[in-house]
Parts: sequence; C-alpha cells; structure tokens
Amino acid sequence: MALLCISPQTNGEEWRDLFCAEIPDLDFRIAPEIGNPEDIEAALVWGRSLDSLKDFPNLKMIASLGAGVDHVMAERHLIPKGVPLTRLIDPAMTAQMTEWCVMATLNHLRRWDDYRALHRQRRWDELAVPIPWDTTIGVLGMGELGGDASRVLAAMGYQVRGWSRSPRERDDITCFHGHETLQEFLAPCDVVICLLPLTPETEDLLNAETFGWMKRGAHVVNAARGRQIVDADLIAAIDSGHLSGATLDVQRAEPMPDDHPFWYHPRIMTFAHVAALTVPRTCVPQIAANYRRMKAGQPLENVVDLDRGY
Ligand code: NAP
Ligand code: GLV
Repeated sequence: MALLCISPQTNGEEWRDLFCAEIPDLDFRIAPEIGNPEDIEAALVWGRSLDSLKDFPNLKMIASLGAGVDHVMAERHLIPKGVPLTRLIDPAMTAQMTEWCVMATLNHLRRWDDYRALHRQRRWDELAVPIPWDTTIGVLGMGELGGDASRVLAAMGYQVRGWSRSPRERDDITCFHGHETLQEFLAPCDVVICLLPLTPETEDLLNAETFGWMKRGAHVVNAARGRQIVDADLIAAIDSGHLSGATLDVQRAEPMPDDHPFWYHPRIMTFAHVAALTVPRTCVPQIAANYRRMKAGQPLENVVDLDRGY
C-alpha cells in the first residue's frame, strides 16, 4: 500500500526522503507516477489537485500540506465520502506566524516607514508613538495561530482582544465571539489582525461596513486569506483617511497581477504569502504519525470538520 503526493507545488522528492526516514518501508509515490490506483491509501494535497482522488478505492486519509484547507474545501465534492481530511498544526508554523504578526504590528506602531523616510533625509527627529498598554490590538480568529499571536502580543503589554466563532476564556485577552459582537470588538482596535480560516462566513468579512466599524487611524493586518478583504473597500477606507494603512501577507490572486493597486499604494505593504511557511522537516513527523494511526485503525489527529469548513 502507498502514500501519494499529488500536490503540484510541492517538492515531492524532499518529502519522500523525510517520510522514508520516518517510515523506512513506506511506498511513497509522486503524481503523476501513481502506479496501481488500488495501492493508494493516503494522499498529500496542496492547491487544487483533487480530481484523481475518486480513482483510489482504498483511500483512507487525505493530508493537507498547510494549516488552511480552503483550497481543499473549494473542491469538497471531490473528497470521497467518509475519508478524513487532516491539516497541519505545527509549532514551527505557529512561531513564524506570531513573529510575522509582531513584525507587522511593530512596524506600524513604531513607525518604521516614517523613520526610514527620516533616515533617508538624514533627519534626527522624534515622532510620537503610543505606549503599549494604551494600544488595543484585535485578533480575528483565536485558533492555533491567532491564539498564539494574541498571547505574545498580550505579553508585550498591549490590550489584546480576540474574536472567534465559539466562546473562549483567556486571562490575558478579552474574548468576543459571534458576528453580533464584531462591531463592538473592532471599535477600539488600533491594529486589527486577521487570522481566520476562509469559509463562506469569513469571505469578504473585511469590507466597507466593517472598516467603518474600526476606529480612525486603525491599521489592518491580514495573514489569513486574501478573499477575506474587499480590496476596493480597503483602498477607499485608507484613501479617505479613515484607516492608516494595511500590511497584507495574502491576496485574492497570488501572485498579485502587475496592475493591482496594492503594489502602488503608499500605505499598503504586501508580502508573498510567506508569513508562515510549511516546513517539511517539522511537518512530516505529524503526518507520518497519522499515517501510522490510519494503518492501526486508530482515529486521526488534526482532522478538519468538513461541515464547519476549517
Ligand atoms: P484554526 O485553529 O482553525 O482557528 C480558526 C479560528 O477562527 C478559530 O478561533 C475559529 O473560531 C475562528 N473562526 C472561524 N470561523 C469564524 C467565524 N465565522 N467567526 C468568528 N470566528 C471564526 O486555524 P489556524 O490554524 O489558526 O489558521 C487560521 C488561518 O490562517 C488558516 O485557515 C489559513 O487560512 C491561514 N494561514 C495563513 C498562513 C500564511 O502564511 N499567511 C499560514 C498558515 C495559515 P472557534 O475557536 O470558535 O472555532
Ligand atoms: C498557508 O497559508 C497555510 O494555510 O498553511
């Protein structure tokens, strides 16, 4: 029986070496070299690549090579009934994401761009910056990634509030849940960080109305998915002076087209979907452990709730 890598964007050879170090007798195949479809028991997926799953009658596990599964959910009809989908929950990914969110927050709050401009002019000026406990940071999504970013930001002294779907209790963070609390949640935030999964409920969530609920001068940080922001509404909110700017790791179309206005906007900084990369070395052991559980007929870990969509 075999594990098949069908992710077009993944270096299958690198994953094969790491998997075979974990499970020496593993038959690891890389699409399109599938061999006998009846051999395939597990599939590694990333990007839209699910067409072939229907051909594997013995498939028992699908592993997303990322934390988000919107790429798989977009092809949910191609997931064979009853086959569990797992995702990555990886400390290395979480640490990278927290680091990136802290960077985006500090660059804004400590006015990196303004100081760089002064540096270029050889000007020794002092600019006003807020003290941490007078600053409110809102984290949309209090899961693996938002939970950790909010913990670190709270430890740095900021007033941190978190928003989720279901109730959460945290000593260090003011927690809100449900769409009906979103306006109250956003109102005092100086920085709003989006770490929500992309689902029908979160698509276009950051739009003219919700930007309007943010306070004047708020800075928007998106490290989740580009389709959670209505691009034109963001630009309008910044151009009107209501928002101070945005730091965006993710975009609607990736890579962003050359003519996308985000490239040219002086108050928007973009990154190439790099906030938290999948590190094969740290991710293979958890997928291999799930593979062993699957072989032993045990329940898998990090299973996605297909109805919830994340
Ligand atoms: P997670 O553990 O599943 O957490 C998701 C959080 O969002 C949970 O707190 C959940 O609420 C909340 N949520 C979901 N739908 C909601 C809704 N409709 N209203 C309010 N809250 C809602 O996910 P994660 O591991 O933290 O990852 C989050 C996302 O980050 C991924 O889905 C992916 O898109 C993105 N990501 C980006 C990068 C990058 O490099 N830019 C890397 C990795 C991941 P509950 O607590 O109530 O369930
Ligand atoms: C990256 O965006 C991921 O979801 O892992």
